[in-house]
Amino acid sequence: MQAMNRSHPHNPMVAPAGAGGGLAAATGADAPALASLIERLWAGDVRALARAISLVENGAEAATELLSACYGAVGEAAAETALRIGFTGSPGAGKSTLVDQVARFERAAGRTVGVVAVDPTSPYTGGAILGDRIRMNAHFGDAGLYIRSMATRGFLGGLARTTADVCAVMEASGKQSILIETVGVGQDEVEIVRLADITVVMLVPGMGDDVQSLKAGIMEIADIFVVNKSDREGADRVEREIRAMQSLSGAHGAWVPPVVRTVASTGEGVDSLMGEIARYRAYLEESGELVRKRAAAWKVRLVEMLRQEMLQRLKAHGLGEAELNAHAEAVAERRENPYELARRLAASALADGQGTRIVPLEMRIDHLGIAVKSIAQARAFYEALGLSVDAEEVVAQERVRVAMLALGESRIELLEPLEEDSPVGRFLAKRGEGLHHVALHVKDVRSAFEQLRAAKVRLVREEIGVGAGGHAYFFVHPSSAGGVLLEICGE
Ligand code: CO
Repeated sequence: MQAMNRSHPHNPMVAPAGAGGGLAAATGADAPALASLIERLWAGDVRALARAISLVENGAEAATELLSACYGAVGEAAAETALRIGFTGSPGAGKSTLVDQVARFERAAGRTVGVVAVDPTSPYTGGAILGDRIRMNAHFGDAGLYIRSMATRGFLGGLARTTADVCAVMEASGKQSILIETVGVGQDEVEIVRLADITVVMLVPGMGDDVQSLKAGIMEIADIFVVNKSDREGADRVEREIRAMQSLSGAHGAWVPPVVRTVASTGEGVDSLMGEIARYRAYLEESGELVRKRAAAWKVRLVEMLRQEMLQRLKAHGLGEAELNAHAEAVAERRENPYELARRLAASALADGQGTRIVPLEMRIDHLGIAVKSIAQARAFYEALGLSVDAEEVVAQERVRVAMLALGESRIELLEPLEEDSPVGRFLAKRGEGLHHVALHVKDVRSAFEQLRAAKVRLVREEIGVGAGGHAYFFVHPSSAGGVLLEICGE
């Protein structure tokens, strides 16, 4: 583990890299432009709304600032919070048609509406835009209604979170009712509608097993059931099946989800549905369930936000797609332990940012490195003190001869340069013989390296070397360590 630094320990002190520019610099966003966007969004400007949603969808770094502004100041009474109604059910249940009817109803009642149509199965957002246009045309000229489609996001995304964020932006722009519509009833959809205050689960007659065809979990999240296309044969049977399942599943608290029949294409039954929605909203508010439900949704989002924050930090640490692929390959080929990897990367990400936090490294002093002109001469004194040389060897990479003398749990390392123009040779020329470095032993050199690097500690070389005996080591520059060249060594 003994090996010399290549650079001069007496280099002019260089202050460790400090925190760089401010928030605007970090986000790369034009702060005045963002402020103006937020202002226009609050004023209900449709273009600003579209632009803000795109920022959120693309996971732009400015999105966090934008969303934070949308949330508003803590402690401030929230502006009237929009009611979020989620619609899910098997494909072909007529969700878009019913959502359009509900939007019409809300508009007629004087409420502004935002619609988020989510398709987790589609890899493209582009494809959905045509659908938006067709739907928007039906409401042409109505500034009080905004429709937006969303599809699968990249690996940093998380569709449920993005959906919730888009809802928050719509709310900030003054939309009073937000309708969330999913394409099918997969696990993603369940996660998405969980974010709504009210969940409407739609079924249609004549879809085979009907109720049984719905995935487990979807029945539990229903606050209101809709049997759509109820003019078809079999509507009675679907309703009976829902009732039967409800009695089997037992406790629902004070609210028993009602079953509403609709024919979305004609608007039949929409009044009844809206009546049930109003009744359920009143129940939510009176029972305190609304706050509990929203807290539960926030818990899911907070976990997602923390995950995102962690991934962003890791990305800032150079963990891009290529690095991730390399790690995955190393794990598959058993060159790397995935559990240790994850822990190490997480630790390095956490060590970043304000207030460097370095996880305790379980250190002890491994050895003191002393630069000497001649090991043969110097060792005589230490041997006279009663120490004995464990090993004497050449570390070719550092062009140095090394003698290790055991001293309790530590050691003294005598360093004799092989050439004048070697790290220790240059040290001797400038400073003469003397203490050259202090070496600390750690359990996990790689983890120590990652953490110190993440904490922007100046290292002599941005790599871990392999010294004598196959031990790993690296050097912390004296400018980061109070003027002492610090070797970190260990397994
Ligand atoms: Co050493």
